[in-house]
Amino acid sequence: MTPVTPSSWIAVCAARDLKRTPRRFVIAGQAVVVFRSGRDIAVFADICPHRLAPLSEGRVIDGGIECPYHGWQFDGTGLCRMIPGAVGPVPRVRLAPMAVCEHDDLIFVSLTPTEAPPYSGRLSGAGNVSALVESRVQSTLIDVAENILDASHTHFTHKGLLRGLSARRHRVRVDITGGLGWVEARYEGEPRQEGLISRLLEGGRGISIGRFMAPGIAEIEFWGPQRLNLVTTFHLRQEVDGQVAGLGILSGPTEYGLGYVKAAIFKPLFAVALAQDRHILQAASGNRKVFGDPKPVIGPLDILRSSIEAILKGELPPVTHQPVRMIMEL
Ligand code: FES
Ligand SMILES: [Fe+2]
Repeated sequence: MTPVTPSSWIAVCAARDLKRTPRRFVIAGQAVVVFRSGRDIAVFADICPHRLAPLSEGRVIDGGIECPYHGWQFDGTGLCRMIPGAVGPVPRVRLAPMAVCEHDDLIFVSLTPTEAPPYSGRLSGAGNVSALVESRVQSTLIDVAENILDASHTHFTHKGLLRGLSARRHRVRVDITGGLGWVEARYEGEPRQEGLISRLLEGGRGISIGRFMAPGIAEIEFWGPQRLNLVTTFHLRQEVDGQVAGLGILSGPTEYGLGYVKAAIFKPLFAVALAQDRHILQAASGNRKVFGDPKPVIGPLDILRSSIEAILKGELPPVTHQPVRMIMEL
């Protein structure tokens, strides 16, 4: 059971990649400019109130930002401090600051004020090791989230990497539950997967859980018989140009340093898996355009699609009142 309330925090980039150069991101259809302002981080709508130029094309000066068009300067709180060439007092013009924070080595932005911190995977923080991967794909957020959580594509798209080379499958019991802003599928009865990644990283397998959470988190937990071995948490963000940006965190127990080795091995292998997914998602999304946006068929194993769809619309997923239990072969 996942105790989450829908969050409005959206991850935009790795903390290490945010410096004094302003960066533009699109979140929930809005463009924002983000930059480091002294010890703080500043976020505003990426539009100058004067003639609407994108502030992200300007530069950071004294912890504030200078518009690239006529050089108006706004300080880190958004107040206009200087209009080059104007004599006399500066008229009162202000950019509205937005909520921003650094959390789990990522920068999160929220368009609405919020008190609660962003979501952390269960293995973040002390005693654990994590690695960050970034990915970008021409697709939709729902298709990418479903892809990450879709256990049935791994036999084909990731043959040998996540799954073994044989076509042998195992009967697995799946329990699907959900609530406001979340849905999860819990897989029980599956032996450890025979692919390279699983054999190297996972240890013994007990259960695995795939979950989706608002506003765009797709996460998988791999539990061994005793404990949680591995978590992959993907923060997804829909860009305006039909791209989905993903920031993925792999985390696991430190295990006297072994965790670091695993994280180092994981990154390149995971990059291969991501490239395989990117290829198939982009091919499908290109086909969608060629064929005039046909409606996809929901198959018997597409167990999370309708719930993800509902959550993205701010609705309760269908499994909220009626949890589903089913058997499938994986
Ligand atoms: S458009 Fe920004 S200063 Fe004129
Ligand atoms: Fe995949």
